[in-house]
Amino acid sequence: MLLPSVLLGAALASAAATNSTTGSRAPPSFTPSPLEFNWLSIVPSEQLEYHDCYNGFKCARLVVPLDWKLPKANHTVAIAMVKLPAVVPDDDPTFGGTIIVNPGGPGASGVDYAVNKARSIQKVLVDKPGIRHYEILSFDPRGIGRSTPVSDCFRNNDFARTAWMLENRAKGSLDSGKSAISYGLGLAKYFAQRCKLEQEQFGGGLEYINTPSVARDMVEMIDKIDELRKRKSPQKQRLTKLPGEEEEEDAGNQGQNQGEQDQDGSETQAHSKRGLESQKHPVPRLQYLGFSYGTILGNTFASMFPGRVGRMVLDGVANAPDYYNGDGWFTNLDDTDLILDKFWRNCYKNEPSVCPFRLSYRKPKDVKKHFWLWIQSLDRYPVPMSSANGGLLALTGHDVLAIIGSAFYKPLVTFRPLAQALYEGMSGGNLTLLADLVDAGVPKVGDTCQAKKNPVLLRAKDEQGLAYVCGDGFDVSHRNTDYWAAYVKKLVRTSRLYGPHWASIRFACSDWPFRPNWEFRGPYKTPAPSSPEYNSQPLYSTRPAAPLLFLTSRLDPVTPLSAARAMAERHPESGVLIQESIGHCAWASAPSKCTWKAVSDYFHSGRFPQREISCPVRCTPWDDECRSEWHNKRSVDDDEQAWWDALDVNEPLRPRPFVLGIE
Ligand SMILES: *[C@@H]1O[C@H](CO)[C@@H](O)[C@H](O)[C@H]1NC(C)=O
Ligand SMILES: *[C@@H]1O[C@H](CO)[C@@H](O)[C@H](O)[C@H]1NC(C)=O
Repeated sequence: MLLPSVLLGAALASAAATNSTTGSRAPPSFTPSPLEFNWLSIVPSEQLEYHDCYNGFKCARLVVPLDWKLPKANHTVAIAMVKLPAVVPDDDPTFGGTIIVNPGGPGASGVDYAVNKARSIQKVLVDKPGIRHYEILSFDPRGIGRSTPVSDCFRNNDFARTAWMLENRAKGSLDSGKSAISYGLGLAKYFAQRCKLEQEQFGGGLEYINTPSVARDMVEMIDKIDELRKRKSPQKQRLTKLPGEEEEEDAGNQGQNQGEQDQDGSETQAHSKRGLESQKHPVPRLQYLGFSYGTILGNTFASMFPGRVGRMVLDGVANAPDYYNGDGWFTNLDDTDLILDKFWRNCYKNEPSVCPFRLSYRKPKDVKKHFWLWIQSLDRYPVPMSSANGGLLALTGHDVLAIIGSAFYKPLVTFRPLAQALYEGMSGGNLTLLADLVDAGVPKVGDTCQAKKNPVLLRAKDEQGLAYVCGDGFDVSHRNTDYWAAYVKKLVRTSRLYGPHWASIRFACSDWPFRPNWEFRGPYKTPAPSSPEYNSQPLYSTRPAAPLLFLTSRLDPVTPLSAARAMAERHPESGVLIQESIGHCAWASAPSKCTWKAVSDYFHSGRFPQREISCPVRCTPWDDECRSEWHNKRSVDDDEQAWWDALDVNEPLRPRPFVLGIE
């Protein structure tokens, strides 16, 4: 996801129900659940050392420099890494090495994600049974989750955090008038003060948290993974290379170590005259799968370290220049309002039992017209609520729009319940279903007081994502109300539905007090890959081993196809796979054997059929048959079942509340 905004009372959209942020410096702020691995039992180390964890996974805490400009300084970060081993041993000829996965955010925990989804990704998306088997690795990026030190501006004060979240929600929509913006600016100032105070007392390194630093951390990870593998079985090294590197002639420039980093973290020039890398000592290359914000991380890595790219699949593609530069975040919502139109129109192709609007409105355009009037009236006269959990006091039109936007992330799970909830609200004024959805994202004061841990609080903390969003983007602190009013207006013009909500991502940076010590401002592009024949040897040390593969849904609410195409332009010979689904990221939107095959073929060979391909999907959100199949688990093969499991279909069956960000 692109940023989970707890700012608006958000729950992180990412995978896990597991929680926990533990750290060596920071006292754990709650008791880990029985399922949670005790990360403190691992002593962080500079050499990679795995320990058994999470029932079949391996965990490690890798020490890296806090400041990549001064890597020799004593300040360090311990990155929490977790991997699902391959289904074959490392020395098996079909072992394909490590694929690093990033679930997005920024701010999402890779550990949570891997523990929940790695098995499905391995089985369905990347492995080729009997031919290639990968281990799946993820990590909590610096500042996040179980990596230490962890960013937390409300340390040991969940009550203050809850109060802040509630006031943030109550300030109203940013397009509701300048008073909402002014009040929001005040809250942002308060938040900034807390973060600065926290930093002075505990450290925490918020200036060292940004995406370029994480990209550099990933270089370290692949080097340490390689080192460990060599330590464990030096003679079998040749088997763990990328596919194309298996049968190679030595080109004669052995003995050159090209993995050295200079102080800027950029690679030193290859020694060889043609830039070909040593055959005896090829540098370890990254195999990567990034979703949503993870595409920003991947793009950044590829642009900074093109010679370290082995394979890269980016799904749910965000526009890197727009993310990093200028006011920011303008290119996400190109298709969002179109999805709303599709929602009505496709709904009408079904029986009233599936599409209840048909009972009261003749045509989709009648619903649409009434919908916006209804939203306006909810904003003018918010409806009092007495929800069971006591979080939500008054429901506004803005609340409803935000819920719909977040429901668009996973239509397969959400469209039908959303249709029911909206219909009941619009036609009969029964807001119960909608209120429940909104309420799920509002923090509960009672839970905080009773020290019952609030799931919303346990998940991503705003500052963990904001450190990235604000530090990666231009400095927008000290802008006035007019600036923000214009910013909001521009986003609302792009999407009436989600623009107001989306604007709050950058708005949250309005007083962010930290600037990163080390920046990378582009260009976000790579040189052409080593060779059109990706298996040719040796590889060029300054070029990716293969082109990049971009994946996207046909209609994505926050990372549109237009962004995927724009990013593909920047990476020569890269491919765009358009999956004919609606939702955020191809992988999470619908089952598609075509997509799965293209991805596993690409990881294996570095190739894909053509520059742009379209992949059909098995199910649409309105498709009754598909849903009953999965419920009955009949005629769903193993792969599809694994995919459905990965979707967490049984858990939410309702829109996730207030998801803010790309994921
Ligand atoms: C780093 O720590 C070591 C041992 O604790 C100390 O001897 C050294 O002076 C420190 N270096 C810096 C740059 O602080
Ligand atoms: C409102 O909707 C909910 C959920 O569908 C239902 O349980 C409840 O009885 C409805 N209330 C009224 C007054 O119809």
